Amino acid sequence: MKDLIWKKHGKGESIDQEVMAFLAGEDIELDRQLLLFDLRASAAHVRGLEQIGIVSEAECGLLSKGLKQIEMDVRNGVRQLDSQFEDCHSAIESWLGEMLGEVAGKVHTGRSRNDQVAVALRLYMKDRLLQLQEICIGIAEVLLHRVDEEGDLPMAGYTHLQPAMPSSAGLWLAGHAEAFIDNAELAGLTLHWLDASPLGTASGFGVNLDLPRDAVATELGFRRLVVNPQYAQNSRGKIELQALSALAASTLDLRRLAWDLSLFVTHEFGFVKLAEKYCTGSSIMPNKRNPDTIELLRAVHGVVQGAQMELSSMLSLPSGYQRDLQATKPPLMRAFGKGLQALALMPELLATFQWCEERMLRSVSVQMLATDRALDMANEGLPFREAYRRVAADMEDGDTEGVQKSVLNRISPGACGNLDTNLLQDRIKTILNHPD
Ligand code: ARG
Repeated sequence: MKDLIWKKHGKGESIDQEVMAFLAGEDIELDRQLLLFDLRASAAHVRGLEQIGIVSEAECGLLSKGLKQIEMDVRNGVRQLDSQFEDCHSAIESWLGEMLGEVAGKVHTGRSRNDQVAVALRLYMKDRLLQLQEICIGIAEVLLHRVDEEGDLPMAGYTHLQPAMPSSAGLWLAGHAEAFIDNAELAGLTLHWLDASPLGTASGFGVNLDLPRDAVATELGFRRLVVNPQYAQNSRGKIELQALSALAASTLDLRRLAWDLSLFVTHEFGFVKLAEKYCTGSSIMPNKRNPDTIELLRAVHGVVQGAQMELSSMLSLPSGYQRDLQATKPPLMRAFGKGLQALALMPELLATFQWCEERMLRSVSVQMLATDRALDMANEGLPFREAYRRVAADMEDGDTEGVQKSVLNRISPGACGNLDTNLLQDRIKTILNHPD
């Protein structure tokens, strides 16, 4: 391992490699996802130091150029975070030192790794929540597009997984679209809530320098400051939990959507055919095409829930920085990694499946028109309960009224014959105009 940034030269502390490896944990791998955010925050911090005269204009120029160069090297794969470093924070200082010598030692003035990691994590979460929001909007748009194209296709609607009433592809599609619009909004609200800069709070007690915290926060695109240095540390884990909660809303809906599809593609339902690339074959049964993709999509919510549990169970800490907080990173990043990867597959998967119209139409039996008939009688003045009994009594006789007509007659707002998707489109526009 390279010289540790906290090692006091000449004092000869003993460094035990086994213990150091344990302390670093998964940091080296996970900090690769924080590195670019840390570099951005470091550059803003340096400009803040210039404002208060800690570094000269020339030094600020050198440090900024150095940080930019490191950023480019990281992007091009010339530099990589590996096990010779303790974490991304020490790697940046070490690389700067190699490039610039003495002056690199100024970059850490007035900050601690405690506020450094906190700011990098907030930038990471903002980025991932914005991605989440964009993906959710993408999913909703694909679904609403299909409503326009095929919304009137009749299909059976189910409660208790038993045939209930005639429904339509449009009702099913728009229902899932509305869920993802809610999720997009929640991602934005969560982003807005955690959009605060902890940079300049140092180890959790502030510093004896008049750091221009506001200007640095504004440069980094934050909406406000985390004012109190202690809270900058105490909020670690808590904000991660909220970010996971926003993600979990989406993966929960993803699970239900994947569940529906896994039923719809069965031989028994036969409503939907997935594009080939989402299916795999069986190693033994030549006849099989299995919808593995939707099954693994369904499994993703379990990963997110597991991360929520892991995170919340470790948050039993006193005030201030504790190294336990490092352990918030693996569940956060595991969940966002898996969750966003899965959700990002959805727009294309949803755009490419085929409806099997005939099977859908055949799924609607005459019996399923019973509620419509009872309501028709109620509309003509018969008390609904009486109409219900009469329809139940002569249901055997059947009713030849067309299924399509039943679907289109369902005109209550939001129902098959009046999907009101313009209201959903309006919400998408609002979210896109005010992302958070
Ligand atoms: N990897 C550490 C974390 O995530 C960085 C902060 C280290 N701070 C400290 N005082 N040792 O919390």
